[in-house]
Amino acid sequence: MKIAVVGTGYVGLVTGTCFADTGNDVICVDIDAKKVERMKNGEVPIYEPYLDTVFERNIRQERLSFTTDLKAAVADAEIIFLALPTPPGEDGSADLSYVLGVAEELGHIITDYKVIVDKSTVPVGTAELVRQAVAKNAKVDFDIVSNPEFLREGFAVEDFMKPDRVVIGTSSDRAAKVMEDLYKPFVRQGNPLIIMDEKSAELTKYAANAFLATKITFMNEIANFCELVGADVDMVRAGMGTDTRIGKRFLFPGIGYGGSCFPKDVQALAKSGAENGYRFEILESVLDVNNRQKLSLIRKLKEYYNDALSGKTFALWGLAFKPDTDDIREAPALYMIEELLKAGAKVKAFDPEAMENVKGIFGDKIEYCDNLYDSTKDADALLIATEWSVFRNPNFTKLAGSLKEKVIFDGRNLFETKKLKDLGFHYESIGREK
Ligand code: UGA
Repeated sequence: MKIAVVGTGYVGLVTGTCFADTGNDVICVDIDAKKVERMKNGEVPIYEPYLDTVFERNIRQERLSFTTDLKAAVADAEIIFLALPTPPGEDGSADLSYVLGVAEELGHIITDYKVIVDKSTVPVGTAELVRQAVAKNAKVDFDIVSNPEFLREGFAVEDFMKPDRVVIGTSSDRAAKVMEDLYKPFVRQGNPLIIMDEKSAELTKYAANAFLATKITFMNEIANFCELVGADVDMVRAGMGTDTRIGKRFLFPGIGYGGSCFPKDVQALAKSGAENGYRFEILESVLDVNNRQKLSLIRKLKEYYNDALSGKTFALWGLAFKPDTDDIREAPALYMIEELLKAGAKVKAFDPEAMENVKGIFGDKIEYCDNLYDSTKDADALLIATEWSVFRNPNFTKLAGSLKEKVIFDGRNLFETKKLKDLGFHYESIGREK
């Protein structure tokens, strides 16, 4: 099939690359000419495991190409994917201007039947707005499909190639057939392709993300309570997660969820509820609790040092919002750095992939270190914000030798409390004894 993907952000790039890898001809469009030039030269603009290999292979075999010219890109395409940003507006609702802007343009330029697919995360009712925007100028038939994407950063290629399910929202049998044919290679192991109406598909995406954000937030509250009553959240998690109705995954407490999706989507669903006369009280609480949780480690730190952080130096391991990505959007580490700087402390940071992105925000206000132990050298304590694998098994003797004092505040529960105690560390984590 011939496919155009409009927008080469995370979702667009992975979508285009993976469709090319199943034998389709894919052309990706972006307004950012510099980025398009880089991609033409085989450069992947984001860090995502395995993406570079698949990307390079499909460019070489001439199934994947890039352009800034929307009209040329969609001329031959049977399917046009919209993978455009839907950032939160000032009031928290999703800003649809990119999606609707391109939809209007498409109306002007399409000259034969197209299936126009919305892959961006959008509020219920957007498919209808996209339909109207295209219809304003269109002289040919077209169908609109809502096809939300469920991939996780860090596992994007794997998730796209082997999705738990594919959700297709459309009221057109013709478009449903085209989408089924396109996705056949991805669901051949029997994972379901679920066809539904556009609105249900749009809501499925928000509901899934909001549910997962709520699940994490619930565990964060249980962890906070564990600390007060002396229970161990790891044990509680193991005890709960073995109930198949609850499940083992997504029960890890920490310093709050971040990323480009959960914070924005929980807010947007709450807002969409309000606009339709429904108050999502549970989501309001999730937002509040998560905002508080991002600074839970800093509160512990302040308590330990009796609020006297000024003049102290802290090593910070992990800047990305989670491991295996260089994405720092809504990363708890950023909020922590801000608090530490406000309190007059110095920060020596290390992250395997995300440091360049953080330099763009904090510049020389913090120090960027080349490796784990450079960051802890002469630091008063170590803070851990992301669970990169490389942090899981440090050389504790080296660590103890480089830190001024043996103090660790761990926002991701990487180490065994007893082991660290035995090694003489003051070790505080989330939902476990100090
Ligand atoms: C999330 C969803 O998992 C994807 O299904 C969805 O497609 C994507 O958003 C999106 O809407 O595009 P992602 O943001 O890549 O994917 O990251 P997750 O792995 O879901 O993690 C989100 C946050 O939750 C991270 O900050 C992570 O540290 C936190 N988390 C996750 C926990 O604190 N505890 C857990 O047990 C799991």
